[in-house]
Amino acid sequence: MNFAGQAKMGIGALRCKLGAKIPLNVMVSVTDHCPSRCTYCQIPLRCRPDLTTAQWKDIFRQMADAGTMRIGVWGGEPLARKDIVELCAYARELGMYVSLDSNGYFIPSRPEILDNIDHLVLSYDGPKEAHDKNREEGSWEKVMAAFETASGRVRLWSITVLTKNNIHHLDEIMVTAEKYGFMTTFQALHHNATLGGDTADMMPTTEEYSQTFQKLLKMKKAGAPILLSSSYLSAASRWPDYSLTRTTEPFYGPSCKAGRAYCNIDVDGTVYPCSLLIGEYDRAMNALDTGFKKAFLNLSKTDLPCNGCTASCYPEYNYLYSLNIPVALDWARGVKRTDKLLLKMKKTGE
Ligand SMILES: C[S@@+](CC[C@H](N)C(=O)[O-])C[C@H]1O[C@@H](n2cnc3c(N)ncnc32)[C@H](O)[C@@H]1O
Ligand code: SF4
Ligand code: SF4
Repeated sequence: MNFAGQAKMGIGALRCKLGAKIPLNVMVSVTDHCPSRCTYCQIPLRCRPDLTTAQWKDIFRQMADAGTMRIGVWGGEPLARKDIVELCAYARELGMYVSLDSNGYFIPSRPEILDNIDHLVLSYDGPKEAHDKNREEGSWEKVMAAFETASGRVRLWSITVLTKNNIHHLDEIMVTAEKYGFMTTFQALHHNATLGGDTADMMPTTEEYSQTFQKLLKMKKAGAPILLSSSYLSAASRWPDYSLTRTTEPFYGPSCKAGRAYCNIDVDGTVYPCSLLIGEYDRAMNALDTGFKKAFLNLSKTDLPCNGCTASCYPEYNYLYSLNIPVALDWARGVKRTDKLLLKMKKTGE
């Protein structure tokens, strides 16, 4: 997002802080389908039919009208949809900033997606053995090919799910980040029983997670390309028990802004406060039945069942949408560094 976009988002956040409910940032799960079978994920098993291109375009139009400035496209594997380039291009035409999460499998064969999104987030869980153990055999080679294709063509981030398999490989992740010019992000295992697989065997202990977040904070302070804010990393290292994903207390400081400044639309069009509440929030309405805005505003009519969680994105959103200045500056520096890396890789590739 450029400076003007960040300023507009800041004004939106200020309005939300003053009590407005605006879906500034919407995660859209566009498909359950995925060619991969990662150990910690059972989304592909849900296997529901996709909405049509026209249905998503209609929802996107309604989102833009309701004030959405950024969408995060995920799934399943978004590139499993034949029309994903068309959908992302359409969202950008409507003036929304488009971020896309991918396992990278189809990036080399469908590089045109890179010209139709604002940034790409590739799932990368570390060196080959760790990555393939977390995800599936052969997946590391595919994400490396995706980094090769995307590097220097689009703003690039990685997301690493921290497990017993990779918490001791943080330095190697940074080496890959330097090579391909991307900024790194990290998250603890957190998907609920509907979305996550059986993760007991790969779940680090709370002490191990705590040490890992402390190490990431130290590495960031020493200059490693880590996008997560220092405030988040520091708080995450104090999460009381990583076998519990959610707390009722506002653990990170600000109260949760899910359903107030951001939300998640599921594959069938149901509007949830966030992805962790998919299947666990029975008040959710479907945008196809009620329209997007009504389904979004419905979320703020009652209290949320929780106020803190172990997903990394939502606490960061909560800091940003409550106008936490140190976190906003931290992220602005990270985004600027992403752009510098893109420029550097472009020049290297010329
Ligand atoms: C569900 S995937 C969808 C996008 C794409 N298929 C991918 O893998 O990047 C979005 C992110 O969720 C992560 N994820 C999957 N299962 C998880 C779990 N049980 N806990 C935390 N993150 C998980 C993936 O590694 C990925 O970074
Ligand atoms: S994490 Fe992504 S790539 Fe892996 S199974 Fe889930 S949706 Fe597919
Ligand atoms: S704290 Fe907020 S973002 Fe996290 S699971 Fe609860 S409602 Fe969702």
